[in-house]
Amino acid sequence: MAKYTIKTIFHGPLINPTSLLSFDTIPKCLVGVNSDGNIAWIERDVSDGQVKEAMDRKGHLHSDGLEVEVIELKEGQFIMPGFIDTHTHAPQVPNIGTGYRYELLEWLEKYTFPLEAQFADVEYAKKVYPEIVKRFIQCGTTTCCYYSTIHLASSKVLADIVHSVGQRALIGKCNMDRHCPEYYREESAQRSVEDTRAFIKYVEPLPLVYPVVTPRFAISCSRELLAGLGELANAASTSPLHIQTHISENPSEVAWAGELFPECKNYASIYDKYHLLRRGTILAHGVWLDEDEVALIQERGSGISHCPTSNFNLKSGVAPVGRYLDCGVKVGLGTDVSGGFSPSMLVTMRNASIASTVVALGHQHGRLNCATSGSTSTYDHGSNSGFSGSPLALATLFFLATLGGAQVCALEDRIGSLDVGKAWDALIVDLQEGSNPALWSQESEEEERNNLAHQLERFIFCGDDRNVYGVWVQGRLIGGTSFVEGSK
Ligand code: GUN
Ligand code: FE
Repeated sequence: MAKYTIKTIFHGPLINPTSLLSFDTIPKCLVGVNSDGNIAWIERDVSDGQVKEAMDRKGHLHSDGLEVEVIELKEGQFIMPGFIDTHTHAPQVPNIGTGYRYELLEWLEKYTFPLEAQFADVEYAKKVYPEIVKRFIQCGTTTCCYYSTIHLASSKVLADIVHSVGQRALIGKCNMDRHCPEYYREESAQRSVEDTRAFIKYVEPLPLVYPVVTPRFAISCSRELLAGLGELANAASTSPLHIQTHISENPSEVAWAGELFPECKNYASIYDKYHLLRRGTILAHGVWLDEDEVALIQERGSGISHCPTSNFNLKSGVAPVGRYLDCGVKVGLGTDVSGGFSPSMLVTMRNASIASTVVALGHQHGRLNCATSGSTSTYDHGSNSGFSGSPLALATLFFLATLGGAQVCALEDRIGSLDVGKAWDALIVDLQEGSNPALWSQESEEEERNNLAHQLERFIFCGDDRNVYGVWVQGRLIGGTSFVEGSK
């Protein structure tokens, strides 16, 4: 007998990722969600007339006199798992659309560090973070991996806000003790580690917030700091802490990291040396990784957050994601605001699609203008599953934005797809209502309207937050066009 009673039952079409190459479409799905926010059962093929009967069969109907809320999806709506944004910077949202004529290192110096430094003022954090978090939720992001700034107090503010609005999030107080302006630098490695420890302790009681050890990137961290963070990240006796950082984003950055750590064979080895490369490590970008690095990342079980929008904006390059998938590396998607110009995972999926097409065309024309150029002329495609060389399929894009992201976060047992026992972190997408005429169907397209795969494709390529009708995290409605603030 279930420990929890059923609180909500959803009835309607459901689309679920199943693998990198497939997804499940269930036109008449009935899902029971427990009061703890986890999925109790899923019944397929329940027609309108059979809903009550199916609920009775499940034996949960009005048990203990509790009201069960039944949510019937309307025409043009479908359910899918919420998006997982595996890499973004909450404090950079006010800078969206700023400074894209520069490449990474200059852009950081001129725009990013000055903005982030403003979060020394907790009142500023309290003013801007609530709107920023809301913006990510309205885009349909149910789990978000946020960087905050170096400031402990403002990082706590971000954690408090995420907790109060009910989003699931991985949040890291950013660590940096060198090669950044004096006005935006932690005073010592020791202090940086201490503040991180304090942040982790603060976040621990917040059930949907996971603290993340966040060395910004190798360049901004001394050896002492990397060593301290490696130790901290691996000290936890129960579940190991998450780790997030940037890797191999831009050629000048890669060269500088090499100069700073001549004792390490490559960029990935720097993190590996300090025990920062393992399952639960989220590596943003990875545009210019060589074969050894890809093999090491795969072996360690770390994941790559592919941030195509940012990689285009800052002219960093085009990450050969297909090659990483062929090598068995876990891959998710990241908006990387404000290198990326949008907090929307839909935009990120579109740019991931275009990026993969650019790589595929490069293969076809024999002109590989990305990281593959130096190392793949002898690359053996023989045993691969064939992702490199082709644009990413719809199923792959959907997987990367959901279950792939969950794998990168080492949370695939909890989130990423809608399966029994997992959290109800879900969206109701609405292609009919709202003010997005690009998605209104013609009557004569009846058949296509009924084709869920086609609806998913239309949502991914021309949907936006007007089409995100409901956003649930752990069974709680927290956003979407149907959400009224303060209602629950
Ligand atoms: N590398 C180090 N810091 C950053 C950042 O804030 N954004 C991006 N895109 N790359 C980085
Ligand atoms: Fe980033």
